[in-house]
Amino acid sequence: MSTRYAIILAAGQGTRMKSKLYKVLHPVCGKPMVQHVVDQISKLHIDEMVTIIGHGAEKVKAQLGTQSQYALQESQLGTAHAVIQAKEMLAGKFGVTLVVCGDTPLIKAETMEALFKHHEEMNAKATVLTAEAIDPTGYGRVVRNQQGFVEKIVEHKDASDQERSIKEINTGTYCFDNQALFNALEQVSNDNVQGEYYLPDVIEILKKQGEIVTAFQTEEFEETLGVNDRVALSEAERIMKKRINETHMRNGVTLIDPLSTYIGPDVEIGQDTVIYPGTTISGKTVIGSECVIGPNSEIKDCQIGNETTIRQSVSHESSIGSRVNIGPFAHIRPKSDIHDEVKIGNFVEIKKAVFGKGSKASHLSYIGDAEVGKDVNIGCGSITVNYDGKNKFLTTIEDDVFIGCNSNLVAPVTVKKGAYVAAGSTITSDVPENALSIARARQVNKENYVDKLNYKK
Ligand code: UD1
Ligand code: MG
Repeated sequence: MSTRYAIILAAGQGTRMKSKLYKVLHPVCGKPMVQHVVDQISKLHIDEMVTIIGHGAEKVKAQLGTQSQYALQESQLGTAHAVIQAKEMLAGKFGVTLVVCGDTPLIKAETMEALFKHHEEMNAKATVLTAEAIDPTGYGRVVRNQQGFVEKIVEHKDASDQERSIKEINTGTYCFDNQALFNALEQVSNDNVQGEYYLPDVIEILKKQGEIVTAFQTEEFEETLGVNDRVALSEAERIMKKRINETHMRNGVTLIDPLSTYIGPDVEIGQDTVIYPGTTISGKTVIGSECVIGPNSEIKDCQIGNETTIRQSVSHESSIGSRVNIGPFAHIRPKSDIHDEVKIGNFVEIKKAVFGKGSKASHLSYIGDAEVGKDVNIGCGSITVNYDGKNKFLTTIEDDVFIGCNSNLVAPVTVKKGAYVAAGSTITSDVPENALSIARARQVNKENYVDKLNYKK
């Protein structure tokens, strides 16, 4: 296998998106388009990867981090001009260079691998990945000669009516002999309708030099969709969503209604988990097996064990154990650590709190900045008073504690092991082990008082 390089074109503004957000950063199933491309390329054996950045350079860099090297294209003079920016890093090196557009988020590693193989087997200097499009409008067309060999690529805007009737399109993905590529780039002109330096012109230049130029046609037009506007973006979203959902279903996950189930590309879900409609699962979420999730739930960046139920709830950046029961209508906010067999019931909000095994907050509570031990029962309406307007303080509730309904635990405060807090208490100092703490005004009953009120009928 030859040394392999990859160049990702991501410097364009994306004018047709009509957006403040740079085109390649628009998300598809929650992940920026260019990140999809880079993640797929990362599965191949690539020795050097260079992303061409320009518009939104810093943001693209922040997104991709150390996954790629970068070359800056200061003004966007076309795709050939974009590739030339990698000259200092790559020109003169032996090997094969894959060029991919950052706006083709659906391209798969397997297809690029097949393109590499075809290119190497054909001993070609350039191989373009093509596809048959039902509606090729906007794409470059692949012009073949009478023998069926690729002659050149004509951009839609430059094409004659006859050329526009060609259904085989340039997907914007290519393999080039690295040295031939950089030599040919020197000869690309901007003598075309858009006044841009077109990368596809390299095909014609090499062909005219008598080099072997081939096309590798993929059956999967869908995979090669180039996103130039929001209509195509929604199409990419639809296709990616279907792909992700089908992968989970084939792996043994039940999606009651895949059309209304939104799962991010990096989410992992175990067998026999059932996802109900209206559910969005995103980020680096990992869900175990035999869980029941949804309906109408939002889960982002959570690790969830097995046999856990989360109904009609929102959970972010938290760890949730096995056999946990959450919802309906619970809110698990970041940095919560909910251990096995916990119950978080309706209208309970948890923030940055540890919940020990078997503990319960079944109704209407706020537990924030707290460490709750094992087998604790937090009664309805109880809250941790964690904030004084300036600073946040910790509430510690040790194992086997019982917090009566409608209690306020004013942090910093500790309720020690086995203690009881009477309903309606406002706890401002620590409660000793096994103590009963009652912190409320005594009840006064005024006998027959109501009869004395003269407004009584
Ligand atoms: C391009 C191809 C077209 C192909 C289509 C596939 C050219 C001239 N045309 O058209 O044949 O059918 O992709 O989707 O290549 N970019 C830069 N710098 C620039 C210009 C573009 O980095 O100066 C980047 C863009 O950010 C984008 C990619 O290159 O990610 C492609 O550019 P775009 O303007 O989308 O080209 P298309 O018109 O889609
Ligand atoms: Mg495009």
